[in-house]
Parts: sequence; C-alpha cells; structure tokens
Amino acid sequence: MKTIFSGIQPSGDLNIGNYLGAIINWNKLQEEFNCIYCVVDMHAITVKQVPMDLRNRTYKTLATYIACGLDPDKNVLFVQSHVPAHAELAWILGCSTMFGELSRMTQFKDKSAKNEQNINAGLFTYPVLMAADILLYQADLVPVGQDQKQHIELTRDVAERFNAVYGETFIVPEGYIPKIGTKIMSLVEPEKKMSKSDENPNSYIALLDSRDVIIKRFKRAVTDSDTSVRFADGKDGINNLMTIYSCFTGKSFDDIEKGFDGRGYGDFKSAVGEVVADGLAPVQKKIGELMGDKAYLEGIMKKGAESASRIASKTLAKIQKRVGFVV
Ligand code: TRP
Repeated sequence: MKTIFSGIQPSGDLNIGNYLGAIINWNKLQEEFNCIYCVVDMHAITVKQVPMDLRNRTYKTLATYIACGLDPDKNVLFVQSHVPAHAELAWILGCSTMFGELSRMTQFKDKSAKNEQNINAGLFTYPVLMAADILLYQADLVPVGQDQKQHIELTRDVAERFNAVYGETFIVPEGYIPKIGTKIMSLVEPEKKMSKSDENPNSYIALLDSRDVIIKRFKRAVTDSDTSVRFADGKDGINNLMTIYSCFTGKSFDDIEKGFDGRGYGDFKSAVGEVVADGLAPVQKKIGELMGDKAYLEGIMKKGAESASRIASKTLAKIQKRVGFVV
C-alpha cells in the first residue's frame, strides 16, 4: 500500500478552500492508501502567532479533520511538534540543502515581502522542515495545492541528493495535485487563492462562520460587470462562485447556467450563500461537539503521535547511522 502524507498549518481558521481543496479529497484516499495527516504547528510559528490562539487552532484543525470524515482509526492524525524526529531530521536535511535553492522559493520571497520586520531563519528553512515531514514517513504521494509544488520539487531534489551521497535511503515522493484541482479563490480578489491568513476576512468563508456571515460575504463577493451567470475566461469571481456552488450541490456548470438563466448576480450570490451555509451546518455541529471534548481530542493526538513516532524513529535512526552519528 502506498503512503500518503499531508499537513495543514494551524495558522488561521480553516476555510472552504481548505475544505473543498484538501480535506474533502483526503477522505477519498483513506481506503486506498496508508494515510498520515499532520497539523503542522512548527511551520505555523514561522510567522507571528498568539500562543493561546495557536494552541486552540491546533485542536480545532484536528477536530476539523475528524468532523470532515477522516477516521482516526484508518488514518494517522497527529501534531507535528509531538514527534521530535521532524526537527531532528530537518537539521540533517538542512545540511544537504543549499542556500541558493532556498533563496529561490517563491513562497519565501512572498512571505518575506509581507513580513519585512520578521524575516526569520525558520521562514527561510521552512521547506527543509516540510521535506523532513514527508521523507520521515517514506511517503510516496503528497496531496498539496499548486502553491506547494515548488516545495515538493525541492523535497525530491534533497532526497535524491542524500541518496546519491549516502546510498539509497529515501523514497523520492511525488506531488499529488488533483487533476480537477478544486482551487477556491478569494471572494474579494478572485485572481488570488483563498487564504486563511488573509488580513481581509471578507475574502474567505471560515468553516465555522455563522449563516449570517456566510450569506453576507457571498453577497459582497467581487464579480464582474457582466450580468449573466456563466463560466467564462475573465470572469474569475463568477467562476469561483460557480465552482463553490457546484462543489456543494453536485450540479454541473451547465445545470447552474440553466438554473440561473435570466436571473442576475444578486440571486445567484444569495443561492451560493444558502447552499454553503446548509452544507457546512453538519460539519460545524461536529466540530463544536469535538471541541467540547478536549480529552477525546488529546487521546487522538496521543495515539497519532505514537503511531507516527514508531515510523519516524525508524527512519531517523537509519539516517543518523548513514551520516556517521554514533547511534
Ligand atoms: N507547507 C504546507 C502548506 O502551507 C503545509 C505542509 C507542511 C505540508 N508540511 C507538509 C504539506 C508536508 C504537505 C506535506 O500548505
């Protein structure tokens, strides 16, 4: 059975982009693959976090994984900082990663432009920690969005370089970027991906937003000056709303166009708000229940960390031996 590894940073409240673009798809993989999903809190502190919020969102991210259907008995669900091997392998891999390579990472360039007063070393070596996450579990496939492709490429390069110097050690992983990539865009700048760390809350729908907020945000969503609901080049805003509507209802773009023929954007935006609010209601209820039972979540974290550690410590020991550490 092939191994899948992926992770989400608890750096903001998960939104419908994370839900439709990642977690929902992970559900389909749990029967077919050996799946490991991590809450990457160590990555999250590369940008400033309020400690109490980070802790709370770590629980919430795990609760969301479960509420969206990831079965903790079929998948390894764990928190990155609970498995010290991630940091240990990251150090070793850092010594096989070049300054020049890291300097070329577009996410580093973007994030440093945005956080000029906090261009810390962790932000720079972020992709090395990500490589450690993946390589520790000898993952074959890594489901990620388009924006993480460059980090996967780097992971492959580092794995190959290490294998060439120290002998075959790592499985060289592949990105698993869904073909019909459900990429959900910002509601205010529809040419940009919806992001949980966007400073404008009108740009996203968080999974736990209330019905009123959801409906209001869709009403305000930026669209174009055309009036007919149809999917077309240059209509990023409407295309995004149609994608969201289609994901929540299962309707094709054709059906949507027919259903809203002769009706304006206003009607359509209200309809999108309604189906999203309805669709999220059961997930919200489940997250609420899980968040009310911290002991249960801590049990899952503990079990997940144990399973992850078992695999990780085996890989780490092998690598430590390869590089010449006395083990
Ligand atoms: N960098 C990823 C993101 O921001 C999160 C991540 C960290 C990750 N480690 C990973 C994704 C390992 C896949 C595999 O989206």
